[in-house]
Amino acid sequence: NYYSENYRPQFHFTPEEKWMNDPNGMFYYEGEYHLFYQYYPDSTVWGPMHWGHAVSTDLIHWKHLPVALAPDENGYIFSGSAVVDWENTSGLGEDGLPPLIAIFTYHNPVLEKEGKIDFQTQGIAYSNDKGRTWTKYGEPVLKNPGIRDFRDPKVMWYEESKEWIMTLAVKDHIEFYSSPNLIDWQKEGDFGIDLGAHGGVWECPDLFEMELEGSDEKQWVLLVSINPGGPNGGSATQYFVGDFDGNTFTTEQSDTKWLDYGRDNYAGVTWSDIPKEDGRRLFIGWMSNWSYATVVPTEKWRSANTIPRELVLEIYNDEYILASNPVDELKEIRGEKIELSEQVVSSSVELEMPKIELMCSEMKLNFNLKPDSGDNAPEEFGIVLKNDKGEYFKIGYYHTENKFYTDRSEGGICSFSDNFAGLHTADYKAGETMNIHLFVDKASVEVFVDGGKLVFTDIVFPKESYDKIELFSTNGSVKLFESEVWSLKSVW
Ligand code: FRU
Repeated sequence: NYYSENYRPQFHFTPEEKWMNDPNGMFYYEGEYHLFYQYYPDSTVWGPMHWGHAVSTDLIHWKHLPVALAPDENGYIFSGSAVVDWENTSGLGEDGLPPLIAIFTYHNPVLEKEGKIDFQTQGIAYSNDKGRTWTKYGEPVLKNPGIRDFRDPKVMWYEESKEWIMTLAVKDHIEFYSSPNLIDWQKEGDFGIDLGAHGGVWECPDLFEMELEGSDEKQWVLLVSINPGGPNGGSATQYFVGDFDGNTFTTEQSDTKWLDYGRDNYAGVTWSDIPKEDGRRLFIGWMSNWSYATVVPTEKWRSANTIPRELVLEIYNDEYILASNPVDELKEIRGEKIELSEQVVSSSVELEMPKIELMCSEMKLNFNLKPDSGDNAPEEFGIVLKNDKGEYFKIGYYHTENKFYTDRSEGGICSFSDNFAGLHTADYKAGETMNIHLFVDKASVEVFVDGGKLVFTDIVFPKESYDKIELFSTNGSVKLFESEVWSLKSVW
């Protein structure tokens, strides 16, 4: 009965026990996807940060490994990234093999207590054994210029100038640094002081180049997490599409764009060194929110990650958007399948789904918003996951207002925080049909609308598992067509 505790996710990554926050240092090397994470091995609340570690060959089944990095005299080990140093530019490799280099923030609690402001610096560590053990370089490689929030380095190789670029979150903007060897860093440009959302501190950035889906046009994408100040409260991740010239990032974008409108996708970044033949931009986020992360009702561990997602750059309504979709590898864990019969929903209908365990399932539901024979399009329609205790999680679309929503206000236990219950919305103009792709685990619902153009990730804690699913439509009808449901198998 490993991983069978109450609310233990069955197909999401969680540490065996204790506290986890941001995913860190993800890279791919020699057939293994590495995942590190902000970890406090002594408690189920945040504390002196370590990097926990796990590896996977398919992004879905994970093997836990020992803690990779622990605090030292330079401080706690905050968030950061890792890369394969293919050309051994750092000189830290052995036997002609490329060293793996982690670049992270040292957060010095002693200086912080003394009231200093320069307690965050950037350090590095290296591994020459496929990431199994890590050696710290020693002194920080990037000192603090006198600013409190100076952290979360995300490093990438920039082919044009053949140097490393570090994207760093600095309070209310991004700074770029360059280096020939990952050790000596030089300041380049700044970005964002007067762009994007500024309701909180900027954290955990990521910068990468992407091809526009279906073309060979290239654009640069910058992810920036912000806490608080998200579109539905607390922490969330915004993104910018524009250009990077080796010095700074520029964009013509004037509005704020959000990667996810749910409350529980934070500090997510993408994998480094995915082979060219694969070519995907793979993302994972922390499935929680600083507004309540430390008090959610799980006992042995706290927090899970989102399912791994592929980011895709598209044009929608004449604008660039970054769509997110579940990675294909998730199909490996599909079990029992049901094809739902085509039907018109004009008030509410419960779906018969014998043999499907709702709280470990995937659903692809297609709705036609213009049903046959003179019926009105609905004012509102959606999906309700519920149990006999009167608890429910609702996913719906206010057709007349062009707003999509998820609602967990009656979803289950909410009393642990005043900030938890709630209805989350996003403006969205539906076409004639709408595809809703859902992943439901023991304590979470992930909603991908119309090929991931709109995403909601929400955690939820029902007292009893939801075991019924209902479709509804008000003042008009929708038609369900070509819809499928799968039970998912536990990955643990
Ligand atoms: C984001 C964050 C990072 C920091 C880490 C500390 O959730 O606040 O900015 O490096 O968590 O655990």
